[in-house]
Amino acid sequence: MLINEAADTKQLASMLERRSAGEPLQQILGWAMFAGQRVAIAPGVFVPRRRTELLFLQAAKYTERGDVVLDMCCGAGAIAMALSSVKRKVELHCTDIDPVAIECAEKNLEGTGAMTYVGDLFEPLPVVLRGRINVLVANAPYVPTSAIELMPVEAREHEARATLDGGEDGLDFHRRIAEEAPGWIKRSGCLILETSESQAAETMAICEANELKPELVTSEELEATVVVAWR
Ligand SMILES: C[S@@+](CC[C@H](N)C(=O)[O-])C[C@H]1O[C@@H](n2cnc3c(N)ncnc32)[C@H](O)[C@@H]1O
Repeated sequence: MLINEAADTKQLASMLERRSAGEPLQQILGWAMFAGQRVAIAPGVFVPRRRTELLFLQAAKYTERGDVVLDMCCGAGAIAMALSSVKRKVELHCTDIDPVAIECAEKNLEGTGAMTYVGDLFEPLPVVLRGRINVLVANAPYVPTSAIELMPVEAREHEARATLDGGEDGLDFHRRIAEEAPGWIKRSGCLILETSESQAAETMAICEANELKPELVTSEELEATVVVAWR
């Protein structure tokens, strides 16, 4: 892949050096594959993971023509991008706290009409979206702080800590999102969260505590766990 991407042997040598030092292949290439599409990413931006395709598949399952969809903590916009390729008439909104990630998302979502916002969770969203969202999908950080040092060097050293760190038990973002989501999601709409097998029961309990009805969805093939919580 590096040979294909490099313009000449000098660039190839520099790319190999970066890869040997642990930089993720996708950050060197400048793109990652997600749900069959090339997603542009910049250094430091979270590399979309294959497991997150389950989150996209669940969002696609519950999104209907004309729906309002929010991709919260969108990173490079992989989920919204995949969704826009299978659901044409959808009003897409994407938020992330990292302006560099939002720049990538804007590039990836060009021509889709998606709106992007930089800021902390719901804070940058226009109030007119309150009560109008049909599907709120979020792959928010959920790694417990103490587990970050056990991650591969690619993530630990080359992805911003803010893309991974979910607080002491990893679920700080799930608490904050589930607490505010009912004010933004339309009645009978849903919140879809990526979580892990070991954190799933707690993610579901957090949703229940906020009067959302959770269902667990897992995929052995993608090694993925998702909670779909209904308002
Ligand atoms: C695990 S990454 C997921 C990115 C993308 N959804 C994906 O699956 O490729 C989490 C994202 O949450 C963003 N983030 C972290 N804290 C945030 C906050 N307080 N508000 C909004 N976004 C935040 C990070 O910048 C990062 O892009």
